[in-house]
Formats: sequence, structure tokens, C-alpha cells
Amino acid sequence: QTVKLSDYRETDFVFESVALTIRLFEGRAEIVSELTLHRRPNTAPDAPLVLDGDELRLISIEMNGETLASDRFDATPDQLTVRDCPASGSFTLTIGTEIVPEDNTKLMGLYRSNGVWCTQCEAEGFRRITYFYDRPDVLIPYRVRIEADRQAAPVLLSNGNPADTGELEGGRHYAVWNDPFNKPAYLFAMVAGDLELLSDSFTTSGGRNVSLGIYTEKGRSSQAVYAMDALKRSMAWDERRFGREYDLDVFNIVAISDFNMGAMENKGLNVFNHKYVLLDPDTATDQDYAGVETVIAHEYFHNWTGNRITCRDWFQLCLKEGLTVYRDQEFSADERERTVQRIGSVRRLKSLQFPEDQGPLQHPVRPKEYREINNFYTATVYDKGAELVRMIATLLGEEGFRAGMDLYFDRHDGEAATIEAFLTCFEDATGTDLSRFALWYHQAGTPTLTVEERYEEASDRYTVTLSQSLEQGAAGTGTEPMLMPVRLGLVGPNGEDRDVSPSHGAELLDGVVHLSEANETLVFENVGGKPYLSVLRDFSAPVTLKHEQSEADRIALARLDPNPFNRWRILNDLLGETLAAASAKPASENTTPLSAGVVDAIVSSAGDDALDPAFRAQILALPGEAEVARLIGRNVDPDAVFETLNAARQQIADTGSEVFARLVAGAPADEAFSPDAESAGRRALANGALGYLCLADRSPQRAAERFARASNMTDRQAALTILAFRFPDAKETEDAFAAFYDRHQRDDLVLDKWFAIQAAAPGASRLEKVNTLLSHPRFTLRNPNRARSLIGSFAGLNPVAFHRADGAGYAWVADRLAELDAINPQISARLATAFRAWRTLEPTRCEAAEMTLRKLAAMPQLSTDLKDIVDRTLA
Ligand code: ARG
Ligand code: ZN
Repeated sequence: QTVKLSDYRETDFVFESVALTIRLFEGRAEIVSELTLHRRPNTAPDAPLVLDGDELRLISIEMNGETLASDRFDATPDQLTVRDCPASGSFTLTIGTEIVPEDNTKLMGLYRSNGVWCTQCEAEGFRRITYFYDRPDVLIPYRVRIEADRQAAPVLLSNGNPADTGELEGGRHYAVWNDPFNKPAYLFAMVAGDLELLSDSFTTSGGRNVSLGIYTEKGRSSQAVYAMDALKRSMAWDERRFGREYDLDVFNIVAISDFNMGAMENKGLNVFNHKYVLLDPDTATDQDYAGVETVIAHEYFHNWTGNRITCRDWFQLCLKEGLTVYRDQEFSADERERTVQRIGSVRRLKSLQFPEDQGPLQHPVRPKEYREINNFYTATVYDKGAELVRMIATLLGEEGFRAGMDLYFDRHDGEAATIEAFLTCFEDATGTDLSRFALWYHQAGTPTLTVEERYEEASDRYTVTLSQSLEQGAAGTGTEPMLMPVRLGLVGPNGEDRDVSPSHGAELLDGVVHLSEANETLVFENVGGKPYLSVLRDFSAPVTLKHEQSEADRIALARLDPNPFNRWRILNDLLGETLAAASAKPASENTTPLSAGVVDAIVSSAGDDALDPAFRAQILALPGEAEVARLIGRNVDPDAVFETLNAARQQIADTGSEVFARLVAGAPADEAFSPDAESAGRRALANGALGYLCLADRSPQRAAERFARASNMTDRQAALTILAFRFPDAKETEDAFAAFYDRHQRDDLVLDKWFAIQAAAPGASRLEKVNTLLSHPRFTLRNPNRARSLIGSFAGLNPVAFHRADGAGYAWVADRLAELDAINPQISARLATAFRAWRTLEPTRCEAAEMTLRKLAAMPQLSTDLKDIVDRTLA
């Protein structure tokens, strides 16, 4: 059953408000939903009321307080139909359902995690609690009463402001919550359990005093201190940068250990995967700290972009997600370091979104149809969606962008909006025609931007031609030229941007070409000698760049470019292209894939103390195996890619060993830990250098020593990763894994790292090792983080083992997907996307992968989630 955007229509009845009573008991929960509603004026007077359900059991139903006769309704697990509702005027419908949260392994709706009752309703989980119009355009106020045993659940939380609490008979108690803001069902949340509270407060610029709470499992609230700090910084930033204040008296966050996604922005009650809340230096890395900061900010920012203004239907998902990712990226850029943040976002985009956009799971940022909405929480909707918002900001400039955002908040507050309405705000606020830009939302695929340059010495004239093209892919959408901002500069030999404007052809506005035709040319007269062209600065558009530029020019720009992002991008692109080309050669001819010039550029940047350490660490991180495979594009042999990367790393290590030794020696292992970006950058550089130094030594010794002496998780995990990835079979590596387990076995989040690093360590025989980990007493498929840590890391981060030529890696993963699918289809479907590049593999692997996928597709009882992914992957 395909859902189509073109089928959108309003509900037949209009919901006015709802009062929910949730009674929690061991082994069951009763839900009573009292709806006030009326027939929509233009609805036929005999049209029945049809509500959504999912695995529900109806236990009572009343209209205006009277039990409804059995011939007036039909209730199945997934639908409730009520006939002969009043033709006009408000009436109430009181619906009783019973569910078993303990049996809810899908973790959608109301479920129990480590004894805690909690909910996840986006996208369609509310219908697993009660019959409802479970769609985002039904916006009403909620009043929620929760009743539970006081001992099992001293804490009772829901959306909005607390209204009442009290005692009940038999050791039970209740709490009432009132959410004055209209909201759709997907933003409903309820939590009940024996939780510990970290509390704080924030005063908004308008003078509202907000109590802030982070609830955790017992004994862990001290690990939420950094998350609380990130929350307060997010609240202040949204006021400063977007003029958005918080709007309730309380803002609560709950950390849950079994959670399908990262976190959820329920109004006033965000529910988080505890991975994105709980941290301390001994158990979390700098990357984990950055992840917590980003996700806390993301969910908080949804209060305006998602909650106050929500989506009309799920096709508009990018309206809240793309925009909110853009906002959290900007927050991190302001709080940390802009260039390094941008490099991180672009790496993420290229490693997650580009393969999606270039393979069988391709879909436009705003899709037109879906079979399972949970499969559209993708890198395309989130990360490419954020790139589209970023392009609007680049095209309109800071003021124009802010004017458009202000108009959007003004015009659509309290509404369920669309992408069209969003874009119209920017057009109206600035008088810009964005029709050619809107195509980005509808046309799937990564456009190619081709750049050609010509310098005529005699006339000192310089010409740049930009051409765009888009190939039709799996989504079958259009290929029209789109409006895209191309930021560029002409760089002189001393690293200065030449102050020249094009004399004719396309214009350059604040260093940006607003490319909207298939081809446009910029002509510069009297440029003062041949410049270096620095194009696609800051990755101003999410495109594949084709720019034939000599290696010498690129190496010069990597050193000179006044746009620091492009220093990284140009070197990184050069590396990607070089490694992709080298991987096609036989291994014997491929011992030195990099030129001396490239190696020197990397080593000298890494050793340049004038540069930001975090930036230098990025220079040291080569494109990954999957990225190189994507660049090769067809007939990929993952073993050859792996060997090529190893050879390249060895070259860098051997050439730069003195620099690396200095960088490692300059970073004491026992420095006091501070999670700030600058300290994190220094650790990243030292640990990057350590990896190369061990390769230069051809010995794991220094990593083993660093591991033993590490005083924080960042250094400990970095050393363990060097051991696992560069010396997977060494005795030192085995010892380090054993020591790591001994030290951290009580902490689930650290144990996830232990499983994940082992699953990603290279070598074809990893499969057997990973298979034995399945029977480890601490392994379980029921916890999403644990399932992802072993199976996700193996399938996603271990190309050599997953893509074993005998197909055993594929078969093993498919078996796990089938097991997992019976427990939690959202997770099985997500992990199955690891197969998406199968057609780009060399014939033996391609055939093995196809056979595995066909077997999986033919399995009876496959969930719609997994079936949808497998079918589209094969199509
Ligand atoms: N809205 C949440 C976020 O962006 C993600 C929820 C995803 N839920 C789902 N069923 N896929 O933070
Ligand atoms: Zn989000």
C-alpha cells in the first residue's frame, strides 16, 4: 500500500481537544481517550468516523457518556469505524484500549525500557496507544492524567505544564499535565519510572523562568551535566540567532536505554537515547561530547521548527528536519569552530547521503510517495535537506535569510505547513524568485557541476565556465537545471583573493555565482596574471564537482586558499580521485599510490603549528573505504580499495614519521580533560599522528602504551582503534580488548564501543570472530544500540569482511536481519541499507549480494519496513 502526496485530503471530522488517562500496571496499561470533535462542515452527513490503530484492543467506547451499541462501530487492531455520528455540533467519544508495554519490542508507541514506561510516537506510534487521527495536521490541546504504582514510578511526566498530583488507593498515585499548545499526536509523550533528576533553570529574554530537568536512571544524573549545559547554551543561541524563545514553564529531557533513534522532540518532554545524554571523560569520547551537544540542540530547536510549526503530512518531513539540522549545524559552528564543523558535515553528507542519492534508495528531499514512512528518516531528508536550507541562506545573504525565517515564524506559527509555504516566505520577504531553486526538493540525485577555466596570457583575460547536469536515477524524477550558489574566488600566488569582478557574463555577488542555467560563463579582464581558481568554497552546493585542475595547482591551493574549508576540500578531493584511480591497478603496481607532492602537502599541513589542530587532524584523516568505493562507482573490489588505502597510509607514515613523533610527544597522556573544541582538536591531532607513527614503526607498541596510560576515553578509544584497525591480529590488540572489557563492562554505552570496534576491525576472518560475539552474554538484539554496535558496524564499517568474495558476510548479515525483523522492524530495515551499493561491486560479489537479497525478499513474514528496503534495493 503506497501512500501518495497527491492523495492528501483533510479529515472528515475536526478534533477539538483530548483528555487522556493512562493507567499503568505490571504487564498491562489501560488508556482512556476522551475526544471532543465535530463533523467538518463539508463532510457528508452519513460519512463514518474512521480512526487509525495498530495492534490495539478496544475495551470500551462511549459517545456523549453513553455506551455505544455494537452495531454503531467496528474495531479491528488497526482501525476503529464509528457510524451515525452527529451531523453537526460537538460531541465526545470516549475510547478505552488495553495494551502490553512489556511486549512492545518494536519500541514504537508505549513500551517499557529497563523498567521505565516511555513512549515514541513519531511517525505513527500514537495509534499503538489509542485509536486516533494519527497524522500531523490534526492539532489539538492535550490534558494527560497518568496513574501508576508510586514505588515503581515515583516520576510521572508528560507534555506541557504540570497541573496536579495526588495519592490514590493501593500505593498508587497520579499526575496531571496540561499542554496548552496545539500539537499533533506524534509529539505526544509520557514517561513513568523510578528516575533520578538533574535540575536547573533558564530565564528567557522575555523574563519567563523555565525549570529544566534531565531524568536518568538511578546513579547517572551526574553524567547529564554536560547535556544540561548544552541545553542552556542552545536556549540562549536560539534567542540570539533566530529570536526564538521557549514557551512553557518546564522543559524536561528523559534518557532511555532502549531507543530506536537518537532522540525525539516531544513538546516540553524530549525523550533521548541515553547515548545522547550521558557522558563523562572516562566513558565518552570528544566525538560523543560533540554528538550530545548537537542532538540536545537539535531537539530543543524543534520546539519552533517542528512543534510550533509542524508538517502538514509526512511528505513535508524535511520542512522540520532539514531546517532543524541546518540550525543545529549553525549552533555547533558558532559554539565550536566553523571550518572544522563544516568539514564534518560535508564528510557526513558525502558518506551517508551521496551513496543514497546515487543508488537504488534514491528519493527526492520531498518524496511524492512512500510505503513505509519510517524508512524516510534518511540522510537525504535530514542532511541534504539541511544543505538546501543552507543554499537559501547563501543565496539570500544573512539578512534576507533572517527576514524569510521571521516571516515563516510569523505567518505559520500554530500551523501544519508545507515546503511551498516555507519557500514562499523567502520569496515574499526578499522579492526573490525561487522557482528554479524549488526543484532541489523534487529532483533526486547529486548534480554534477563541471568547471572549465581558460587564461589568455596576451589579453590577461580569464574565463570560467560553470555547467550543471543531473542524471535520472532510481527515483525517476526530473533533470532540469536548478538555481545553485557557487562560491568561488581567484587566488593570487601570495594567497590573496584577487579583487576582480566579471566584466560580462554571469555575476559574482559577494563571491557567489547564482547559477541557474545549464551553462554560465564569467569573463574577467585584467586579472593580473593567471590565478588559481578556488571553486565550491564551503561546499556551497551539494554537488559532484568536476574540475580538471593540475595537481600542482591543487597542492598550492591546499596551502594558500583564503577559504580554509577549501584547503581541506581540494586536498581531500585530490586524495579521493587518486585513491580511486589507484585501486583499479593490480596491487603489485600500487605500493605508492600517492605522489610525493600530495604526501608532502599532508605532512606539512599536519606539522604546521600555525594551523588549528582540529583542522590538521582533518587533513590526516583520509577518505574512507566506502567513499573511495563510491568514487570508483563500478566494478568495485573492496580488497583492492583496502590495500590501496593501506599503502597510502604507509607512505604518509614513512615520510612524516618525524613530524608525527613530535606531535605525539607534544601531547601528554595525563593532561586534565576538558571537552571544549580546542582541547578536543589537540587530542584528535595527537591521536591521528599516533596512528601514523605506529605504521612508521611497523609496531603496535606505542598504541598499546598509550592505551595503558590513557586518562580519558578519547585517548583510550583512539589507541584501541589503532590497535584493532592497523594491528588486528596482534597480541597487544587482544590484551587491550580484554582490559577494556574488564574496566568498562558495567557501562552499556562503553560496551557498545567494545562490540563496535571489534566488528569493524578489518580482515576477512573477522566474520568468524563477530559471529562468536553473538553468543557473548552481553549481546542482545533487543537493545537497538547493541544491535547496531555489532551488526551495523560489521555491515557498514567493515567492507573487507562484509563484502567477502564468498558471500558469507552477506549471508550472515541477512540472517541477523531476519531475526531482528521479528523483534524490531525499524532497526532491521535501517541496517539493511548496508546492501545499497551492491550493483557497484565486481561481478562475483555483486552476484552473491543479489542472491542474498533475493532470498531475503522471498521470506514470509517480512515486515513492511524491511520488505520496502529490500524491494527498492533490488529494483
Ligand atoms: N524527529 C526525531 C528527530 O529528528 C526523529 C524521530 C524519528 N522517528 C522515526 N520513527 N523514524 O530528532
Ligand atoms: Zn529532528
